Amino acid sequence: MHISICVNEILDFLQIQPGQVGLDATLGYGGHTKEMLKCLNGKGHIYGLDVDPIESEKTKKRLASQGFAEDVLTVRLQNFADIDLVSKDIGRKFDFILADLGVSSMQIDNPDRGFSYKVEGSLDLRLNPNKGKSAADRLKEVTKIELEGMLVENSDEPYAKEITKVVMDWRKKGKAIETTLQLKEVIEEALCVVPQKERKEAVKKSCARTFQALRIDVNNEFEVLYSFLEKLPEVLAPNGRVAILTFHSGEDRLVKKSFKEMKNLGLYSEISKDVIRPSAEECLRNPRAKSTKMRWAIKS
Ligand SMILES: C[S@@+](CC[C@H](N)C(=O)[O-])C[C@H]1O[C@@H](n2cnc3c(N)ncnc32)[C@H](O)[C@@H]1O
Repeated sequence: MHISICVNEILDFLQIQPGQVGLDATLGYGGHTKEMLKCLNGKGHIYGLDVDPIESEKTKKRLASQGFAEDVLTVRLQNFADIDLVSKDIGRKFDFILADLGVSSMQIDNPDRGFSYKVEGSLDLRLNPNKGKSAADRLKEVTKIELEGMLVENSDEPYAKEITKVVMDWRKKGKAIETTLQLKEVIEEALCVVPQKERKEAVKKSCARTFQALRIDVNNEFEVLYSFLEKLPEVLAPNGRVAILTFHSGEDRLVKKSFKEMKNLGLYSEISKDVIRPSAEECLRNPRAKSTKMRWAIKS
């Protein structure tokens, strides 16, 4: 099961009223969607987007069995980079929008998806496994400069040079990097420069960052987020509200910059002054919440 983050903070801000029409740009397990649907009290509609055909189908069925069927919820297999097309299709703008970026626990816990370095699985890392190239295929073709840049730009990996060198060495020797644990082995070899007593912790951190960097790359996560942020003001109704949860500094920087620029252009009447963090109590209950940052904006 996936535990939804900052639910109270999101609902407090969105101020959802029965009769409104909203968008959950990242349906996932449907936890936030369900809470937002409850606020509609059977009147109004939510459109839920996800690019993951496996989990979104399950979520659609689960929510329907809990009383949230197609009369109040439409699930669409669509990238949030295309919110303008969704708004055009339904012929209206949204009163509220939520985006909870990244991956769900359902995706992380499925070894076939390759999101976790802790269990053996194929090194895929695509949110939609039917589209684009897997991380294993990317590692077969990526150049040395590209890989090093990817590790630094996408997740500030301090051992980017060392990891890239071992990937290139393994490729030259014809050694496969096709599973999660093979990539972990690459990272362990690269970090042999780290003193023994610090190595275990350093490997753990480098694994998390390297998997994140590859996931961002194979899913074009910065590009689609940029597109989403650019299109947001045109799909929000006047006084429409948007809340975004991010999980690493690269994402938060993009959201912060976009909200600020658009406020200066008069497209938003108000934006969150500071980042909003989950409470200490929530982080204790759900360690995944520790890195969460929430920002919001109100359309003029
Ligand atoms: C953190 S989970 C959302 C969890 C959800 N808020 C809940 O409470 O259950 C993020 C979800 O967004 C989806 N996702 C990531 N990038 C996306 C994109 N560009 N367009 C649509 N969905 C995306 C992922 O597949 C994943 O299911």
